[in-house]
Amino acid sequence: MPQDALTDRSPGQLYLDLLKKTLHFSLWEDPGKPIESVAYRAGVGAALVRGVAALLKKVRLRLVVLRDMDQERRYPGSTWPAYAHTMVSRQRLDNLQQLVTTVLQENVPGDLIETGVWRGGSCIFMKAILAVHGEATRRVFVADSFAGLPKPNAAQYPSDAGDEHHVHDFLAVSREQVEENFRKYGLLDERVVFLKGWFKDTLPVAPIQQLALMRLDGDMYESTMDALVHLYPKLSAGGFCIIDDYALAGCQKAVDDFRTREKITAPLVEIDHTGRFWRKS
Ligand SMILES: C[S@@+](CC[C@H](N)C(=O)[O-])C[C@H]1O[C@@H](n2cnc3c(N)ncnc32)[C@H](O)[C@@H]1O
Repeated sequence: MPQDALTDRSPGQLYLDLLKKTLHFSLWEDPGKPIESVAYRAGVGAALVRGVAALLKKVRLRLVVLRDMDQERRYPGSTWPAYAHTMVSRQRLDNLQQLVTTVLQENVPGDLIETGVWRGGSCIFMKAILAVHGEATRRVFVADSFAGLPKPNAAQYPSDAGDEHHVHDFLAVSREQVEENFRKYGLLDERVVFLKGWFKDTLPVAPIQQLALMRLDGDMYESTMDALVHLYPKLSAGGFCIIDDYALAGCQKAVDDFRTREKITAPLVEIDHTGRFWRKS
């Protein structure tokens, strides 16, 4: 729900609205993106940039890339933010709020999971929604390598051939950092469960009995398919499957392949230029 349309001004809704803006770093002017976090490819240019950035840091200086945020905001969520705790667009966070709330209001049984969490912002937001509703039993699973994306396995997943997500250090955020982010928002407890490792290793053995909502944000064919194969059978009837990366060809193909194979006919609903979801019948 866009800010101007916020009609429910209860403390819980105001808190969630403020949280979305904070997770997005949208309350403040963009101070520019630190040069070392810009997505340079590996090579001499990247090494030079890192070297200069390291030298400057020694004398407490930092080079930043100033960005035209008006230009970038045209496709919200389509750029990698420097300071925000999530790269998920405002529309997708609004949608997440709506679907988690539906799960709670309609008593759809099960826990919540995000596969591909980066700095943890979407998981932190799910945990906050549970807190606002006084929900004290459901768990939030936080699944990530905490080391970035895997190298493409083109032999098994040809759609991932040439994928370069794995070269970007920017996408590697440690488990400790994500835990710390949860702690900063006062939302870390024993019902936040971390699943550290590649999805192909962690998801088949994860201590998950039933899910009410699964949010997939792993960018690649393999990462999306691993999550669908191992988690979708645990999704309750009436539960939601959210796809963050439908604009990426590999992810889109994994979703289409899986839905065709499993004969899933529930409509794939558009959230924004890349977000989609469907409800399991
Ligand atoms: C686009 S980021 C996720 C953004 C995040 N959902 C947010 O709210 O900003 C993708 C994440 O998926 C993780 N990832 C992708 N494929 C993976 C895999 N196969 N196994 C484990 N982690 C993976 C990466 O480490 C990275 O943190």
